[in-house]
Amino acid sequence: MVEAASCLNSLAPDAQRVWDGTTGLAGHLLLLAAAYPKASLYASDADAEMLKLARERAGGKITEYRQGNFGENPFRDKAPFAFIFFDLGISSAHFDFFERGFSFRFDQPLDMRMNAESGISAARLLATAEEKELARIFFEFGEEKLSRRIAREIVERRKVAPITTTRELTEICEHVYPPKYKAKGHADRYPATRVFQALRIAVNGELDALASALKFAPDQLSVGGRLAILSFHSLEDRLVKHAFRDRAFIKETDPTAKSNFKPGDYRLVEPGGITPNEKEIAENPRARSARLRILERIR
Ligand SMILES: C[S@@+](CC[C@H](N)C(=O)[O-])C[C@H]1O[C@@H](n2cnc3c(N)ncnc32)[C@H](O)[C@@H]1O
Repeated sequence: MVEAASCLNSLAPDAQRVWDGTTGLAGHLLLLAAAYPKASLYASDADAEMLKLARERAGGKITEYRQGNFGENPFRDKAPFAFIFFDLGISSAHFDFFERGFSFRFDQPLDMRMNAESGISAARLLATAEEKELARIFFEFGEEKLSRRIAREIVERRKVAPITTTRELTEICEHVYPPKYKAKGHADRYPATRVFQALRIAVNGELDALASALKFAPDQLSVGGRLAILSFHSLEDRLVKHAFRDRAFIKETDPTAKSNFKPGDYRLVEPGGITPNEKEIAENPRARSARLRILERIR
């Protein structure tokens, strides 16, 4: 995102410590390395294999790499930071280099874990969760209208045989939807899109990690430091929006005060958030639902 790049470039020129909690292939970190050659750059990612690729790509331009969930900040000993960045979700490299069943476009085992060492796979979740819970996951995390019917179909099928591959799950979604939705060119309308997204969010506890980070990350900024979060899902964006507002505007406890809120120790940079322009969407269709929000510590 061009806006992300300009946001990174608006840091204080003497920025000292930067933490990217979602390193991926280090695309954003390499921009930062170029803009702030004197800063110490700390790169973490939940996915050990992804971090290996980042290291091959960025090598010594990054000060240190650590595997870990950003919801527990693997670099908390390095705080305070001039810049903290989270680019939420999975990387395109998850589709391109790993075979963990993130996409219905390939037939792969249904794993979907970013950290293969922790949590349960998507196949295990489909095998063990109650029908109601599956429906909740599809509805809440995928905004899937046919969530109950898809959950019911999964429970029926697993009585016969476990659902272990992306093809089996895709076939279930297609079976529930009327045939007109099966044109794979329309990924956002394709029946399996929302179910795959929802499962991935559930398997990786993505909203829990974000909620946890939103509690501590603003406190880990130095004065003048910025926390920037790029989200692709309305649920994530809502969490970010509210948490940032709560830092920027504190509820007034003085009953004689004129306003219900007083300014906090933080300010919202571009209060509505930054969304991609047409050119960026054309270059990267995934950016369509992206929103970047930035919180700055002012004292
Ligand atoms: C959208 S990609 C980041 C791409 C990166 N900005 C780049 O320029 O290459 C998101 C990355 O965050 C990681 N990730 C997602 N949730 C995480 C979490 N809770 N803790 C740590 N890493 C996470 C994923 O493994 C993935 O590599």
